[in-house]
Amino acid sequence: MVTEANIQTVEVKLAERSYKIFIGGGLTSKIGDLISPLLGVRQRVVTILDQGAANSHRETLCQSLAAANIEQVERVIPAGETTKSWHQLQTIVEWLIERKVERLDTVMAFGGGVTGDLVGFASAILRRGVNYIQVPSTLLAQVDSSVGGKTGINSPIGKNLIGAFHQPKLVICDVHLLKTLPHRDFLSGLGEVVKYGIISDKEFFVWLEKNAARLSPERADLMSQMVQRSCQIKAEIVASDEKERSGRAILNLGHTFAHALEAVTGYSDRLLHGEAVAIGCCLALKLSHEMGFCQRDDWARTRALFRSLQMKTAIHEIGGEMPRAGEIIDLIHQDKKVTLGQPRFVLARGLGDAFVTDQVDLVQVQEVLEGSLSAAH
Ligand code: GLY
Repeated sequence: MVTEANIQTVEVKLAERSYKIFIGGGLTSKIGDLISPLLGVRQRVVTILDQGAANSHRETLCQSLAAANIEQVERVIPAGETTKSWHQLQTIVEWLIERKVERLDTVMAFGGGVTGDLVGFASAILRRGVNYIQVPSTLLAQVDSSVGGKTGINSPIGKNLIGAFHQPKLVICDVHLLKTLPHRDFLSGLGEVVKYGIISDKEFFVWLEKNAARLSPERADLMSQMVQRSCQIKAEIVASDEKERSGRAILNLGHTFAHALEAVTGYSDRLLHGEAVAIGCCLALKLSHEMGFCQRDDWARTRALFRSLQMKTAIHEIGGEMPRAGEIIDLIHQDKKVTLGQPRFVLARGLGDAFVTDQVDLVQVQEVLEGSLSAAH
């Protein structure tokens, strides 16, 4: 039996779709015991792992499932954004059908955000919805994409344009998995972590400032605290607006800018998602200050925190050619959250106090972008 002493639990409260997020170090070796109560009469799980997770954690996972007498079937898929495609979706869904996965079965996504999104979507559409569990292996997936039920794939026209809301039955965040992440991927995840402090928890922002130099995957204690607080904030927001009709949009702080910057850099290694979010948060705070909503110090502290986490804070720090501000604004207009032609921005009245608006003067946006494009910034 698993003792839950070293396991932190966050609950996503969504009535009959409520579920728990377990957070702790070494949970992969306890997965069998953790998921067994959910499987009920059907002690079988179908796991889809990405190649990175399979290389590092497959053996531990298989041993844990076997020790709990859970029948297992697995498949490994390639890591990387191109996996979130119609082709892979079809392959996975047909494979699940061939494996006779039915309503009482449980599918487990073990890997980064791409794996969670793809497998979650396959689970949403297979037999109009089967149960799935998320075991996120990257920091970005642990603090963001595995929580809240957004699933989907990319269209050739844009990212995440095809998808469904389908909540998992359980999320298991093993912070020891972060030790096997490339350092740059770990730092990129911190972009989303800092975002939570800015949107709704100044105390957490201050905690991050104090602990910035110590935040390393080797510090499982700090990782557990950090992942737990991030998941708690996200869980509260999702519980109040599951389908992003209003309040959930606040989670997109920095993302209007970030998505445009990712498009400009071709969704490539030039700029990882969390890196784009960090720059986007700095731009959003600068814009909030220029529009008179927050103090200069709020922007300066945001920038200083990202810098102390060794992250880029301005567009000119991205390697290679960048377009002019006007072109970035054109891309902002193509964001999927544009409503009646108006881009939506998340701005802040101060640290811990963000809000959503479409009342933004694009001349001011252009000035903020120009400042960030300039090395004098
Ligand atoms: N990543 C933003 C959301 O889940 O709503």
